[in-house]
Amino acid sequence: MSAPPLTRGLLGTGDPSLAAHVAAHGPLPHGGHPTSFVGDLTGRGGAGFPTARKLHAVAEAARAAGTPAVVVGNGGEGEPAAAKDATLLARSPHLVLDGLQLAARAVGADTVVLAAAHSQLGGLDRALAERGDRGRVRLVGLPDRFLAGEETALVAAVDGGPSLPRGKVPPVWQRGVRGRPTLVQNVETLARLALLARGDDAAGHTLVTRHTAGRVDVAEVPLGARLADVLPLAPGTQAVLVGGYHGSWLPPAVAADLTLERSALASVGASLGAGVLAALPADRCGVRETASVLAYLAAQSAGQCGPCLNGLPRIAAALELLARPGPRRPGLLADLERWAGLVVGRGACTHPDGSVRLVASALRVFTPELAEHAAGRCTAAPGAPAFLPVPGGAR
Ligand SMILES: Cc1cc2nc3c(=O)[nH]c(=O)nc-3n(C[C@H](O)[C@H](O)[C@H](O)COP(=O)(O)O)c2cc1C
Ligand code: SF4
Repeated sequence: MSAPPLTRGLLGTGDPSLAAHVAAHGPLPHGGHPTSFVGDLTGRGGAGFPTARKLHAVAEAARAAGTPAVVVGNGGEGEPAAAKDATLLARSPHLVLDGLQLAARAVGADTVVLAAAHSQLGGLDRALAERGDRGRVRLVGLPDRFLAGEETALVAAVDGGPSLPRGKVPPVWQRGVRGRPTLVQNVETLARLALLARGDDAAGHTLVTRHTAGRVDVAEVPLGARLADVLPLAPGTQAVLVGGYHGSWLPPAVAADLTLERSALASVGASLGAGVLAALPADRCGVRETASVLAYLAAQSAGQCGPCLNGLPRIAAALELLARPGPRRPGLLADLERWAGLVVGRGACTHPDGSVRLVASALRVFTPELAEHAAGRCTAAPGAPAFLPVPGGAR
């Protein structure tokens, strides 16, 4: 048997037209049920859930309920450090729309929704018009908020309500949009499904957003590649953020030897999450960066649950004190560690858990910098700009 062709890539030439799409990938094959080619594809929205299992669960739930399912493409990308989904939607909208068509076929859906930032809707509407699918796919604009892409918040927004998480029970695959079984799938996952339908080796690659000093870009990389081959680690790199603002800081020596593969990442307490890889340059302060991100994350919840109402603001305030060089109240660090432990597993969604995962990794990796701050010094270059993007400039 010949080896499958290498992926032709999700990011295309930059020409988002239907003509360029068909020239690169050919038409979407009519035959073949998606469950026959989905293989070991995993979701690219953060949790890495096996797509085949989700397709099966939604199809079964719809059959059991005697109602057609709903499919929602999740293109909101609330993570401020990530740009992979926005780049994909802008460059290759037809791959995502092909994937939606396949997903709808797989689960027996009669309603198909694509949710994305308001700024993306014009381009997506043009793509729908080109393929004669206006009216068959509903476009929904999402607010520019960290939690907007969490699947229960997404379903609430599609139903016309405020985009707030509502808790995991019942799960959206059982009761989602208008109470119907709903498949929520990240737009990169959908685009990969569209490549798999064409016999492309799409499950073995992933999109990442890379941050290095003065440069942010999106690249498609093989899963299993060495992190150091994918993300340039300049001399003096202090730490690598893997996954995004619900991810983990890793020491450069650990990061350099790591492969971008689920179990290898899990063995050091990391995951690919929203596909963010960021190499903190020598002249910035990791404690300051983390404090700014935490201030942002704490402000993003609607304060519906205790951990977000009381825990995250308190944790963010403590981290802000630790980010300022100078004497600190004895026990502040121990209090911060204790508060971080208290919020885990207590929210209706995993926002508190993800936020304190980042804090815990920062306290481990930036221990020397914390000691410098306690002694009244910071090793960052004076006036160095922020490294990680924080909307609203919470700094
Ligand atoms: C706080 C939070 C924010 C999330 N934001 C996004 C997002 O912006 N985009 C996305 O695709 N998934 C996001 N997710 C994951 C979704 O809830 C859901 O698991 C995902 O869209 C499923 O698609 P997949 O199986 O293709 O990954 C988020 C999850 C959490 C807990
Ligand atoms: S845990 Fe926080 S972010 Fe999640 S639903 Fe509750 S208040 Fe909102």
